[in-house]
Amino acid sequence: MIISNKKPILLIIDDNHLNVETLTDYLETEYQIYSALTGPDALSLVNDCHPDLILLDIMMPFMDGFEICRRLKTDPAVADIPVIFITGKGDEADITQGFNMGAIDYITKPFHMSEIRTRVDNHLNFRYTNENIRQRNMILEQRVQEKNADIKKMLEATISAMSQMFENNDPSTAGHQQRVAKLATDIAKAMNLSESQIESIRIAGLIHDIGKIRVPDAILSRPGPLLASEFELIRIHPQVGYDLVKHIPFPWPVAEFILQHHEKLDGSGYPLKLNGDQIHLESKILCVADVAEAMTSHRPYRPALGIDITEGELIKNKNILFDPQVVDICMSFISNNSYNFDWE
Ligand SMILES: [Fe+2]
Ligand SMILES: [Fe+2]
Repeated sequence: MIISNKKPILLIIDDNHLNVETLTDYLETEYQIYSALTGPDALSLVNDCHPDLILLDIMMPFMDGFEICRRLKTDPAVADIPVIFITGKGDEADITQGFNMGAIDYITKPFHMSEIRTRVDNHLNFRYTNENIRQRNMILEQRVQEKNADIKKMLEATISAMSQMFENNDPSTAGHQQRVAKLATDIAKAMNLSESQIESIRIAGLIHDIGKIRVPDAILSRPGPLLASEFELIRIHPQVGYDLVKHIPFPWPVAEFILQHHEKLDGSGYPLKLNGDQIHLESKILCVADVAEAMTSHRPYRPALGIDITEGELIKNKNILFDPQVVDICMSFISNNSYNFDWE
């Protein structure tokens, strides 16, 4: 029977008509009461009335209260509904079993009606408080996710602006950083690196040459081979890039990846002449992608060298200058000349 749609809903399960009527008479002014006289009826009704709390007798024919409680607690749709046993079985073992079945309270007969109401109120208040906290947490979590998405967008726009700022300075290599980022990211994926590592490589790739902003345009875009003195000036760009980026609080050491992207396995790279394990894997990947992209692209001082020469260079220096696994994967991408350096 329904008293009011606005009141909390109680389901009373008891095979004794008199008990049900007594409880209903006392509680129906504050609660919307449903009742069932058997376990099967109760299990059917609970899905229809969605009670806020269940008052459950134990000693009943066909199916006792423990079994009803067990079934309720194993049904995900209703398992979170609080159950209070109201019973004449007051042995320690019965009470313990009742709580073990998942009940939140256990009231033994004889009881005072005011006690029932107080306990029901307390448990409902506790449940509503928990529900409020859960909903507030969900809202907060959603806001955090929205803020994270905003921060990610800002980061993306900032990286893109930094990348293009340098390209405006050196139009002769327009798109180089994006293409290196694409190839390095694909190599990282093929190496089964983590999502986070792949993202760090993508970002480092997009700005790996940002330090060239301190190299005069006349050197970067001048046709013909570089003079030794000019090459010395270009060699400062990893350190300049590191200094530009080192205070940005990336969740990865992006500045170090940039600093090391011209280091070589045998220590012949620059600026720190690191070797082998001293070099970040991310930088080893950027290094190979950088070489492969640069050799297959036109430069002011030379035309594109083509796939054969690029592959020859990578094979010749595999395990000497370049990480062998990275070289193998890179060559598997570019060898048939069909690799797409552009983002989809
Ligand atoms: Fe570079
Ligand atoms: Fe580069």
